[in-house]
This record gives sequence, structure tokens and C-alpha cells, in this order.
Amino acid sequence: MSTAEALKEQILPEVEAAADLTALEAVRVAALGKHGAVTGLLKTLGAMSPDERQVQGPRIHALREAVTAALAERKAALEAAELDARLARERIDVTLPVRPAPRGSVHPVSQVMDELAEIFADMGFTVSSGPEVETDWYNFTALNFADDHPARAMHDTFYLDETGPDGGKMVLRTHTSPVQIRVMTSQQPPIYSVMPGRVYRSDSDATHTPMFHQVEGLVIDKGITLAHLKWTLETFLKAFFERDDIVLRLRPSYFPFTEPSAEVDVGYTIQNGRRVLGGSDHWMELLGSGMVHPNVIRNCGLDPDEWQGFAFGCGIDRLAMLKYGMDDLRAFFDGDLRWLRHYGFASLDVPTLSGGLGA
Ligand code: PHE
Repeated sequence: MSTAEALKEQILPEVEAAADLTALEAVRVAALGKHGAVTGLLKTLGAMSPDERQVQGPRIHALREAVTAALAERKAALEAAELDARLARERIDVTLPVRPAPRGSVHPVSQVMDELAEIFADMGFTVSSGPEVETDWYNFTALNFADDHPARAMHDTFYLDETGPDGGKMVLRTHTSPVQIRVMTSQQPPIYSVMPGRVYRSDSDATHTPMFHQVEGLVIDKGITLAHLKWTLETFLKAFFERDDIVLRLRPSYFPFTEPSAEVDVGYTIQNGRRVLGGSDHWMELLGSGMVHPNVIRNCGLDPDEWQGFAFGCGIDRLAMLKYGMDDLRAFFDGDLRWLRHYGFASLDVPTLSGGLGA
């Protein structure tokens, strides 16, 4: 057997056995590289006699071609196998969700506002809003607070340096009641509306923060009585707390913009040291309400002999605390992520009456 044939029998199986492209490259260098076996054999041609070269030349060239062809074939096979492996490895499951899970959560105050809107919309109420920087007229005067009335001092008002268009001082609204005026002066009765929003008073302890949230309710129609007020509040609170045994107690009270006025208490029991709403063992104050004062109706350009109504105002933060069990109001506004993760709501779960309000 010639050297060329012997080399062929040695190299071709090595090409076949190369398990990957790196191994194949090593075989190529050992055969066809500068110092490779086939290259070495080609170099011997120069020293041969013409006769010998005529015999050995074609053999050695045939060897080089056979090795080159085998290397190319093996390389193509290895590359195809590697592509198949990569395709299998990098397969994408197109049924997986495209977006990562939503981060962040809905603040309990926003959640409760959504719940309130859902409950009142079901009773036919619209949702209205007004500015947080108010004129003295909307916040007090139109609501029947006389200029020298001590009730103005009942609210620890934040006054601004600016005076409003009515000449009075601008204030951070101390309650959502000015939105009653904005609604009554901008639309015709009948009016059925709730008005949630931020309000401000200079006060701070475990149950008071300088900014907090209220929801105002206003009904203006013909023949409206205290009974409508009580029914509306009962229906709202039963839906909100998702219990049928909510009991309300109306206590006479005073607000300049309602007459008669009533403070509304809700009954609760104590179970395992915790307050649980429902029943009538104990009472806690929940909201202020009353029949809209004729002066207020008149201030809005309506005839109190024709139109009557009721209004109520309720702390939203307090509703959230009672329903979801927080005990310090200040934590609502600290922006502590641990608190928000614990008490927050999934952003894609919208409260509905049919699907559950506070899921
Ligand atoms: N605005 C009153 C408050 O903030 C609540 C209230 C609203 C009372 C509507 C009666 C009617 O205390």
C-alpha cells in the first residue's frame, strides 16, 4: 500500500469520527495544515524523479482531494446537527403571557373609591368632582356658613395667600360639600350624584391626617324625605360591607348646610377582641348627613319650595380602615412599599357588584 493510500485510510475515519466542529478542525490541521501529513507528502513530490512523480503525483493529489471533500461533507453534517440542536433548545412557547405579571398595587383608598362608584352607579348616581383649591364662597358661604359663624372655625382651615374672584380668601377645601354647590349650579335637577375626593384640615394624629378623603352624596328632586336618606345609606353600607345585618342610628346634629342634620352611627359587635360591623351592641360614628338647607338650594338659584334633597359626607379612609382592617391612618400616606404590598389590591381586579367588591 502506498503512503498516500495508508494516509487516506487513517485520515478518513478520523474525519468521520470528529464529534464537533472543533475536533474536525483539529483533524483538518493535522492533515492539510502547514505541517500536516498530507501537506508533508505533497512536499516530497519536488524531490522525486520525473517517473516517480508521474506515479505518485496523481495519488497524492487524489488523497488531498478525498480528504478535502470528506472534511467539507463532515463540516456540513456537523453544522446541520448543531442548527437542529439550537432550534430545539431555543424553541419559544408562544402561548406564554407576553407581559410579565403587573407590578405595584391599587391603594386601598382608590379601591374604596372604585367600590363606592360601582355601588352608587348601580343606584343611578353619577360621579362628580371639583377643585381642591376652593374659594371661600364655595367652601363656606354658599353652604350657609354666615361670615361670623363659629362653624367656620370648626374646620381647621388651610387658608392661601391668594384671594379668589369673589374677594374672599382661597382655601384648601375642608370637605367635599363645595362640590354640591358646583353640581347644583351647573346642572338642572333631578340630581343624584356622589363626589369623592381629597380634603384638607390642619390636624394630625393616629386617626387624623392633614389630607384625607371624603365622599359626598347629593340628591335633589321633588318630595325627597329623611326616609330616602336613611334607605340610601343603608343600601350603600350593606353593599359596601357585604353584610345584610348593618344597622344605622341617626342622631340629631348640626351642620350649617343641612336642616335637620343627623350624625349617622353604625352598629358593631366585638368578636375575639375585634370590632365587627353588624348588629347593634355598640355604635360608632360614621358620617354626617341631613336634608339640604333651603338657603343652600336658594344660593344655587333653585326654588326650595319646588326642590328638596338630602346630602351626606363620609370619610373614605375610615371606610377602608373598617373594611380592610388597618388601624393607623397615617400609614395610608407614608408610601411604604411593604404596607402597599400587604394592603394593596391587584391592579387588574376591578370591583363589580356581581363579581365581588373587595375580592
Ligand atoms: N361636610 C361635612 C363634614 O365634612 C359632612 C356632611 C356632608 C354633613 C353633607 C352633612 C351633609 O363634616
